[in-house]
Amino acid sequence: MSMKLSTVFKMLAVAGVTSFAAASFAGEVEVLHWWTSGGEAKSVAELKKMLQAKGHTWKDFAVAGGGGDNAMTVLKSRVVSGNPPAAAQIKGPAIQEWAAEGGVADITAVAKANNWDKVLPPVVANQMKYKGKYVAAPVNVHRVNWVWINKAALDKVGGKAPANWDEFFKLADKFKAAGIVPVAHGGQDWQDFTTFEAVVLGVGGAKFYNQALVKLDQTALKSPTMLKSLETFKKIHSYTDKGAPGRDWNLATAMVIQGKAGMQIMGDWAKGEFQAAGKKAGADFVCAATPGSANAYTYNVDSFVMFQQKNPANAKAQADLAAAILSPEFQQVFNLNKGSIPVRTDAKMDAFDDCAKQSNKDFLATAKNGGLQPSIAHGMAVSPAAAGAIKDAVSNFWNTDSMTAQQAQQQIAQAALTK
Ligand code: GAL
Repeated sequence: MSMKLSTVFKMLAVAGVTSFAAASFAGEVEVLHWWTSGGEAKSVAELKKMLQAKGHTWKDFAVAGGGGDNAMTVLKSRVVSGNPPAAAQIKGPAIQEWAAEGGVADITAVAKANNWDKVLPPVVANQMKYKGKYVAAPVNVHRVNWVWINKAALDKVGGKAPANWDEFFKLADKFKAAGIVPVAHGGQDWQDFTTFEAVVLGVGGAKFYNQALVKLDQTALKSPTMLKSLETFKKIHSYTDKGAPGRDWNLATAMVIQGKAGMQIMGDWAKGEFQAAGKKAGADFVCAATPGSANAYTYNVDSFVMFQQKNPANAKAQADLAAAILSPEFQQVFNLNKGSIPVRTDAKMDAFDDCAKQSNKDFLATAKNGGLQPSIAHGMAVSPAAAGAIKDAVSNFWNTDSMTAQQAQQQIAQAALTK
């Protein structure tokens, strides 16, 4: 899947494709996204509604596959054929890579008219800009370091949300003894990595996480703390069920919703699934920061990069989409469904549940104390090429019983050198 962007654009040049074709209908926006699970689909439907209310046509370009790997592959092939969508779900350092290749739209005028510089946290605003110009619109802030627990199952075994990894394994043992799958897990590398980075954060703390998984510092990657993280990570494997390989993340969430599994380590898009199933935070499920990470916060900001439009009506529809994304109304209704929190710092949290309020509080607190860190599993921290190589190494370890933590550590350190 991982054809480098520069390769894609070289192919474009060879094919003589120098400009992007405009969509064929006035006021139409084609939107590429991977939001196809129950909670995700409900959320993106709100954006569609809002765009249609402005008189435009929404052309849905959904590519199933949590984490977006499939969507990115399809996006690259659309760009190769000279026909990018008007808006595409692209985030983190990948925004800069796409912008560097040209072809993205400058939406600074929309940003200025709507005060984005003022309402966005600087860490987010900077990521949306390329050479000082806005090229993407952020939708939300997802917290990744969460564990979701079925409340009835928790009560049944007399447990409580685990504050550290020892408590996590004790609770897992209790679920096992009660005939409940302790940890719901799925089968894509980003799911393995979501668990892995939570363990690194909990075992090593935010500073270590930053050295190892953001700066990719070789000393940190080869340290005893990383070795301990890998051993802890692998131990979790024995608490997952045989059906995990190949399973989608939302089906793992469904196991927790139904009480077949006790808990799942997943970002708060999982909450969107609980809600879509009519479940309430506190009463039906418990959210807690992953063990040892109460003072830290791995963030994942979804955003849409806009591609240049030739047709003025489509360009107007695209600008309206960008404006709608940051509107207070959309921020509220979308994030209530999605499980995330609004990206606007002036958003009111009254209508949100306790998990979202906690997320908001921790986002603000960790932004000040250094605990706020980008999620590598969700494409926020390092280049897609390096992230891909490290993910492969981590999943290889997760899935290979004969591999030692020492061997995995070597492979990860090597993968981190990928440019
Ligand atoms: C993440 C994305 C979330 C959520 C998740 C599962 O990468 O940021 O919005 O949809 O994938 O699909």
